Amino acid sequence: MIASLIHSMAVCPDMNKVYPKIEYGRGVYLFDKNGKRYLDASSGSSSVSNVGHGRVEIADVMYDQVSKISVLPTHAFSSEIMEIYLQKLVDFAPTGFKKAWTVMSGTEAVENAVKLALQYHQIRGEGNRFKIISRWNTYHGNSVFMLDIGGMKMRRELYSKWHNNFPHISPAYIYRKPDELTTSEYVNSLLVEFEECLIETGAETVAAFIAEPIVAAALGAVPPPEGYFKGMKVICEKYGVLFISDEILCGFGRTGKNFGIQHFDITPDIIAAGKGISGGYFPLSAVLASGKVMTPFIDTNSSFLGGHTFACNPVGAAVGMKVLNILKNEDLINNSQKMGTLFLNKLEKLLEFDIIGDVRGVGLQCGIEIVQDKVSKKPFPAELKVSKRIGGKCIEKGVVLYPGSGSVNGTLGDHILITPPLTISEEQLDEIVNILYTSIKEVITELT
Ligand SMILES: Cc1ncc(COP(=O)(O)O)c(C=O)c1O
Repeated sequence: MIASLIHSMAVCPDMNKVYPKIEYGRGVYLFDKNGKRYLDASSGSSSVSNVGHGRVEIADVMYDQVSKISVLPTHAFSSEIMEIYLQKLVDFAPTGFKKAWTVMSGTEAVENAVKLALQYHQIRGEGNRFKIISRWNTYHGNSVFMLDIGGMKMRRELYSKWHNNFPHISPAYIYRKPDELTTSEYVNSLLVEFEECLIETGAETVAAFIAEPIVAAALGAVPPPEGYFKGMKVICEKYGVLFISDEILCGFGRTGKNFGIQHFDITPDIIAAGKGISGGYFPLSAVLASGKVMTPFIDTNSSFLGGHTFACNPVGAAVGMKVLNILKNEDLINNSQKMGTLFLNKLEKLLEFDIIGDVRGVGLQCGIEIVQDKVSKKPFPAELKVSKRIGGKCIEKGVVLYPGSGSVNGTLGDHILITPPLTISEEQLDEIVNILYTSIKEVITELT
């Protein structure tokens, strides 16, 4: 009776389904109420528990901090723990970053990053720059504003009447590039599209370009081809447009570097980070700003109006600092790079299936794309829910993945994002691949 009451209160993706209830987590594993073990190859929802589940040392740090002070009037005070942590965040960021502050969710961090870009232009007397250019098939958060800027058609549609509909350009999606183009011609076509979009919309009205360095849930771990971000940054600079890197999912070591954008040899102007920043032990996210962006604020003594009640929370700082220490002391960012390379090799075994069209990723941000026809790359009909079915079979067998859809045109297309904790071992990677292999085989049988 109590169980059914609890279920009826919960807002779950599928309202009519009874979800297994997780009791606790240890390392890469989750355990439900019946003692069943699941390998969490999604790291929460998703790519959050980078340092693994059930870390008592983080609970200890939280206890100590809450015992001292858990919230303070930030309009009048700062705290030493926060000041030290923010300095550590700046040190963790690419060279040239000057300031950082924390909020609670990825959505808030990206929205803060966008507002910072808008205010930067206002202070410099360019308040007419109010547009944000983003890409289709990307996710930047779940507020109405962030859904507008993001490019997931199914999620946007519900709120379209509230949207500004600023320009969206094509994603850099090498698996689905036009066949007649070489990779460099494809990159060039994307750069031309961006520049034409700027000119058409009026470059003097554009505040920022925003991108996920490696597109996560919306495409299933898609890095851009070589030269893409370098070219995009050159165009941004040419037209005075800021470059915001949405590192909510791919930051904090997920891809084998501190931040995903560092794989592409450019430095963004603003970074929004979240998820793995606290390993999921506290709702925490951050905005990191370069000296270029902060200088006009400092020179004109302008405050950034981005505060939230739980901004710069000392408990968040204590947890965030502990997570940074764990990443460093256990060499987890290098482990992500090492295990990621091994994992991609192992996942390639799945290409023997006719329905697995692509295996991709960077570090431990990996993904697969599922197709009905490998030659034409034709997707399955959406109603077959193929990625969800594979994900469901994997859960039955004890592995949690993050299935997605809409990769082709916002509705069609199946992919699965795989982002295990950075603590994962090679044997545990084998566990994921073996269960995924069996599950795909079973779904193929069902489909034929
Ligand atoms: C790239 C990216 N940006 C922003 C967000 C929003 O973060 P949150 O769900 O913490 O608000 C997410 C969440 O999945 C994300 O993956």
